[in-house]
Amino acid sequence: MKLCMIGTGYVGLVSGTCFSDLGNDVICVDRDQKKINNLKKGIIPIYERGLDELVLKNYKNSRLKFSTDLRDSVSKSDIVFICVGTPTKKNGSGADLSQIYNVAKEIRSSISRFKIIITKSTVSVTTGDEIEKIISQKVPKKLFAVVSNPEFLREGEAIRDFYKPDRIIIGTSDNKSNNLLKSLYSPLTSSGAKYINTSRRGAELIKYASNAFLATKITFINEMANLCEKIDVNIEDISIGMGLDKRIGGRFLRAGPAYGGSCFPKDTKAIITTADKYKTNLSVIKSVIKSNENRTSLLLKRVEDILKKKLKNKKICFLGVTFKANTDDMRDSSSLSMIPSLIKKGAKVNYFDPTGEKVEFKKLKDVKFSNNINSSIKDADLIIIHTEWNDFKSINFKKTVQNKKFKIFDMRNLYSPSKMEKLKIKYFGVGC
Ligand SMILES: NC(=O)c1ccc[n+]([C@@H]2O[C@H](COP(=O)([O-])OP(=O)(O)OC[C@H]3O[C@@H](n4cnc5c(N)ncnc54)[C@H](O)[C@@H]3O)[C@@H](O)[C@H]2O)c1
Repeated sequence: MKLCMIGTGYVGLVSGTCFSDLGNDVICVDRDQKKINNLKKGIIPIYERGLDELVLKNYKNSRLKFSTDLRDSVSKSDIVFICVGTPTKKNGSGADLSQIYNVAKEIRSSISRFKIIITKSTVSVTTGDEIEKIISQKVPKKLFAVVSNPEFLREGEAIRDFYKPDRIIIGTSDNKSNNLLKSLYSPLTSSGAKYINTSRRGAELIKYASNAFLATKITFINEMANLCEKIDVNIEDISIGMGLDKRIGGRFLRAGPAYGGSCFPKDTKAIITTADKYKTNLSVIKSVIKSNENRTSLLLKRVEDILKKKLKNKKICFLGVTFKANTDDMRDSSSLSMIPSLIKKGAKVNYFDPTGEKVEFKKLKDVKFSNNINSSIKDADLIIIHTEWNDFKSINFKKTVQNKKFKIFDMRNLYSPSKMEKLKIKYFGVGC
């Protein structure tokens, strides 16, 4: 089939590339000329395991193309996926849908035969209705169908998640679109993915409800960790003991820093705004947001306690600054507030991240990037393991760190406290 992905970011690039790998002709469009030029040269704008080879393979065999010409790309396609950003509004908490509506307006002049217009971006309930209204101002209704097909891929696992999704949600009451999409997704459903056809509004809400639930799970276990710290119980035991109950499940049940990333913080806020509009009180999600916002200050207080309130000139090393492992995404990572707060209190921060130096910290005095683990930890007074990269799971701290009084604050519980005790390393985890 001929597909067009509008927005070549984490979602558009990964899903567009994977669709082309399944044999479809895909044009990935972006308004960012530099991004498109780079992609044509084989330079991938994001860190995602395995993506570069897949892009190169399909670009070379011409099934995958890159363009900045939205109108031309749409006119050549049968199915158009909208994958642009839906960030939080600048002065509010709802989703800013302006990029979506701008695309809806722009594509109208390119629809002269039947096309399925799909929102893959995470959009508030009724956005599909609004897109339909915008397009139908210029295009007869029989020439298009607006469908919701929310994306559930996780950064760091995006390619695996594309090929092996738990479910594919298609929100439409249009049979023709449903049949075409069933056939587009048939390589995935034939290997086990569940295909669910629901209403368009239902599909839009499934995405928000899922993200809000996952954010709730993380926040729940983080609060349990706070209790564990007071009563000499290890949170890891609680996560395992709870997670083995099939009704609960062990995923997203590991204590750590505040949840971050490009989805949970903005989507939890957006669903509250939608519910408020319909006079419905989502009190659980409201308290999840509040608890998550407090999480960073709680962890910072713990850092101060570990350093006995003496932060001035203390060398603090951050291992990992992205919001989770296997991605270069810094959006809403808790390191963005932790690091500035620590330097304000006089600490000197050195960090290493496997995805390289971050522009977000470049201008900060007293924050330095090291390009390997050893040089970043060697002079540290305190090592903070912020992100759960495999690279951080078997470091020989004793051998590498020169300051013999160094301490470790492991925000991901990657190491065993008892083994650290045997090694006589001052080690602190979360929830233990
Ligand atoms: N990142 C994730 O893990 C993830 C997972 C599931 C769903 N989502 C949702 O998918 C959507 C996209 O997220 P993302 O992380 O890929 O965003 P992103 O910021 O990485 O990419 C969006 C891209 O759209 C482009 N764009 C914006 N307006 C355009 C236009 N008019 N024409 C062409 N290109 C345009 C931007 O230049 C940018 O490259 C969001 O709604 C997000 O919530 C993201």
